Order: sequence, then structure tokens, then C-alpha cells
Amino acid sequence: MIPSIEWVNNKIKMIDQTILPHELKFLEFSDYRDLAKSIKVMNIRGAPAIGVAAAMGMALAALEYKDLLKVDFLKKVEDAAEIIKNTRPTASNLFWAVNRILDIINKSVGTSLEICEEVVEEAKIMAQEDITVNKNIGKNGAELIKDGETILTHCNAGSLATVQYGTALAPIRSAIEQGKKVSVIADETRPRLQGARLTAYELNYDKIPVKVISDTSSGLLMKLGKIDRVIVGTDRVTSDAVFNKIGTYLVALAAKDNNIPFYVAAPTSSLSLDDTIDDVEIEQRDDSEVSCVLGKVRIVPEGVECLNYAFDITPFELVTGIITEDGVFTPRELLERYKK
Ligand code: MRU
Repeated sequence: MIPSIEWVNNKIKMIDQTILPHELKFLEFSDYRDLAKSIKVMNIRGAPAIGVAAAMGMALAALEYKDLLKVDFLKKVEDAAEIIKNTRPTASNLFWAVNRILDIINKSVGTSLEICEEVVEEAKIMAQEDITVNKNIGKNGAELIKDGETILTHCNAGSLATVQYGTALAPIRSAIEQGKKVSVIADETRPRLQGARLTAYELNYDKIPVKVISDTSSGLLMKLGKIDRVIVGTDRVTSDAVFNKIGTYLVALAAKDNNIPFYVAAPTSSLSLDDTIDDVEIEQRDDSEVSCVLGKVRIVPEGVECLNYAFDITPFELVTGIITEDGVFTPRELLERYKK
């Protein structure tokens, strides 16, 4: 897949993921406020991609205010950081990325213009780093995958959810590059259908065999022996659980019941190990995403309310292993390795 987001001529260029798979179109942003809206409405989505978009959004803010006195510059970029952080609450990458940029800004002794240059450079580095991290997740996770496996994934934790290559799809890409035969089953992932629209799109684009199932089918397919392994992405790993797209928890329960290994691909930018389950806000999105299919055809009687939690919580007990850019860890090993 081509990169989902790039920094081009002091602008952000990104794939508009709301219209895939029908059209591959690009959006351009030169105003951080528009960028923040695009994260909210999910033109770009997926935790690592949101993180890089947020860093680039900070670069847009720095460019806008670079001619101000330093004291005013600092105030304005702090305000921009708040607007960008206020877009989606669950993925830790968003906060991680904005804080990393704020750290550069606050530590710099340069002028507004010099800080701006540092911020733009850092945002570009973060985009590049994302690809390297994902390739390492790929290498580490590919070791687990045997020739001929069929892997179930939920939502889209692929190239589109990152700058490129993906997290949950990275081990699959890497195993295929090593010459293994691997195929994918993608949960459609109601209500935004990231599995049906995006995972199927990018795997098909790269000629990786993929079949889409309705979300309610995975338990049966596990029982029938048609799934060898589950690999999903994550928006945040706390000290006790994995937060990921709504429906992940049920997949993990079914995997446990069927003795199928359940792995989570997590760049270290998604680790929030000082948090516990209770510290995390689960995003609730608009009712219309559930009441209408893709915001168009209403399927729920008028006047009936819907609940639309975007993410759920999979406790560590259901997780076989977590694949990071540094290796594959059981949840306990993960805490030993990364918790300060
Ligand atoms: O609401 P989304 O599409 O941003 O949710 C995406 C997911 O839940 C992904 O699995 C997660 O962000 C990991 S992406 C590498």
C-alpha cells in the first residue's frame, strides 16, 4: 500500500479513508484545525496514523505561528495541542505524539522560527519511525506464523491505520515476504466497517488472500477449525488490558474457548502501562453510525436510541502475547520489560 499520510511541501497529504474502497482520493491540510476535524470524522484513523497526523498537525500550528514572539508562539501551540488532543480520547498514540512534540518545543532554546523547523523535522522523523517500528513488529510476529495458516483480524490495523505496513497485518505481510502461504479472514467490524472496507481493500491491493465475514461469524469459524490464530491491533495497552475496536473482546473470548492463540500487535507508542482500565475513556460516537448503515440507510426504527461505544476492553487473561517492535511478550513479560 502507498503511505496513508505524508508531509509534502509543508502540507499534510492523506488518503481519505471514509470513501474507501470505492475511491482512492487524497486530502490536503495546511490548517491544524481542519486536520483536527479530519481525525474526528475519521478521514484518517487507526491509532498510529492518528499519532503521526497529530504530530504533523502540531507542525502546521508551528508554521502558522512561527513569526510571533516566542511567548505568544508558545501559547498558541499549546492551544493547538489542546484542540488536536480533543479529537479522539482512547488511542494513546494521539497524546503520546502531541506530548513528544510539546517536549521538543518546551526544551528548545531557539527562536519561534527555529522551534518551528525542529517541530517539522520531528514530525517527519515520527512518520519514518512508524514504518520502521511496524516492519520490526512484522519480523517479530512472523516468527509465530506457520506456513499455511489462516489468521483472523478485527477492524483495520494495517497499512491504512499506520503510515505504512500496519501493526496487526505486519506479521502477515512479513510471513508472506518470507515465502509462507498465509491467508486472512477479516471481521467486517460494524459499525464503521473498517474490516470490510479497509482491511479487505489493502490486502486485496497487495494481493494477499482475504475473505470478509460478518462480525458474528468468527466463533463458528473457530469451532470449525478454520482459524489458526488471531492477530489484532490496539489503541492502548494499560497495565491490565488491551483496548481495541469494539468486538475485539468477544473475539478474544471465542479464541480462548477454542484454544486459538490471540495476539495483539502493539507499537510501544500504544503502551500506557501507568494506566489501568479505569483511567481510560472509551470513545462513544454518534448514534447514527449504528442506526444507519454507513450513515445512509436507516435500519433502526425512528425514535429508538442506539449505543455506540467505539472500543472495548480485553483483559490480559485472554491475551496469549503482545508483539512490539522489540519482541513478543506475554502480558506479564510486557509489564516486566516496559513498566517503569
Ligand atoms: O476507530 P478506528 O478505526 O480508529 O479504530 C482502529 C482500531 O481499533 C485499530 O485496531 C487500532 O487503532 C490499531 S491500528 C494499528
